[in-house]
Amino acid sequence: MTSVEPAEKLLSPVLSASWDDSRPWTLDTYLRHDGYRGLRNALAMAPDDLIALVKDSGLRGRGGAGFPTGMKWQFIPQNDGKPHYLVVNADESEPGTCKDIPLLFANPHSLIEGMIIASYAIRCDHAFIYLRGEVVPVLRRLHAAVAEAYEAGYLGKNILGSGIDLDITVHAGAGAYICGEETALLDSLEGRRGQPRLRPPFPAIAGLYACPTVVNNVESIASVPPILARGNEWFKSLGTEKSPGFTLYSLSGHVTNPGQYEAPLGITLRQLLDVSGGVRAGHRLKFWTPGGSSTPMFTDEHLDVPLDYEGVGAAGSMLGTKALQIFDETTCVVRAVTRWTEFYAHESCGKCTPCREGTYWLVQLLKRVEAGQGVPGDLEKLLDIADNINGKSFCALGDGAASPIVSSLQHFRAEYEQHLSERRCPFDPAASTVWA
Ligand code: NAI
Ligand code: SF4
Repeated sequence: MTSVEPAEKLLSPVLSASWDDSRPWTLDTYLRHDGYRGLRNALAMAPDDLIALVKDSGLRGRGGAGFPTGMKWQFIPQNDGKPHYLVVNADESEPGTCKDIPLLFANPHSLIEGMIIASYAIRCDHAFIYLRGEVVPVLRRLHAAVAEAYEAGYLGKNILGSGIDLDITVHAGAGAYICGEETALLDSLEGRRGQPRLRPPFPAIAGLYACPTVVNNVESIASVPPILARGNEWFKSLGTEKSPGFTLYSLSGHVTNPGQYEAPLGITLRQLLDVSGGVRAGHRLKFWTPGGSSTPMFTDEHLDVPLDYEGVGAAGSMLGTKALQIFDETTCVVRAVTRWTEFYAHESCGKCTPCREGTYWLVQLLKRVEAGQGVPGDLEKLLDIADNINGKSFCALGDGAASPIVSSLQHFRAEYEQHLSERRCPFDPAASTVWA
């Protein structure tokens, strides 16, 4: 890919290919788009061969961490006499992240087909979808799609005459961000308060009801059927060597045409801005996030960093959830970081001290700096608290909260200092459409 190619050629719609059809969520539409062909190919293989194929495809988890999907499936012990579970993490909540929910709304059968394939591979006969509870229309759509799949013989007993059984339970959470952390999700699914568990053991060894469990993101599982239908060679022809394939990016904020864009991994923000009409008219890029607010903040210096999982080079893309939040020059960086940090403080589950106390104190300091009431030494205190959270918290939420503090001070320290020296926010909040 180069930036001289026509913008539309940069896109690779696969999961989103049917989104503009009439009623794309129905089984009929899905079948018209080659749906359930991957499943038929998968059922013709032995489970271990299927795992080897997915491993060889190089598919990496699309929930944020980029862990190899086939390897995760391979961790499930065989002949251990215990039930195995597949749990799909549909609790998408990272700020700016909006790709699993639209995917489920428009194309729920891609997830269901992927779940049947994954369950067959790991020898599981009961799989779960843990959905973010607030999105009631998606909950209804998932229930309807699961019912359609049962009706058509894709779920239940003896799927397509293969002798394989699978039931899917759709479970709606209650809207806690921490329940997207895989072990907190499992606690919540078991009926307990969702708080992270100590890892190891990883869910692959002791997950749901202490049994071997694969926890995969929606998009990871939905990406499996096209791989089975079209083959690894095709999949690897997209993306980069270590991050092959297509993926859904969500663009939001000060961009002309926000939304979901499906493109190969390794595309750059410059290219995605070409496709999406660029930063809103009359304005210029100030900063952006590659994967929601848990990833470091980037600037226009990083427009050509490949959006892949390597996190390579000095810039390091830290892809995360591929939530590209775009902010132009009207945005006060201190205000944006304060808003994110308030989110993390609110969502901290309180289990460990660095995150529970640290996020609280970060908010207090940021609020006074933003209001022009900061005092000398506040910026060092912010960095000190962030340092005491980062790598010292029980789960990734703490690290995510520290990330925007550190990167914003790295790139925009002068703007923080301006708040201190002028004893006011130099931005008119009304000028920012994001935070107004
Ligand atoms: P992680 O890197 O610790 O683990 C990734 C996956 O690999 C997990 O499923 C884990 O069980 C598995 N794994 C890792 N090492 C293993 C081993 N030795 N044996 C067996 N399994 C192993 O990442 P984590 O903490 O699960 O997720 C953090 C990511 O979540 C961040 O990168 C962030 O971008 C993303 N995130 C996504 C959100 C969303 O709304 N989609 C919200 C918040 C964070
Ligand atoms: Fe809970 Fe935060 Fe500790 Fe994670 S880092 S366990 S969210 S208090």
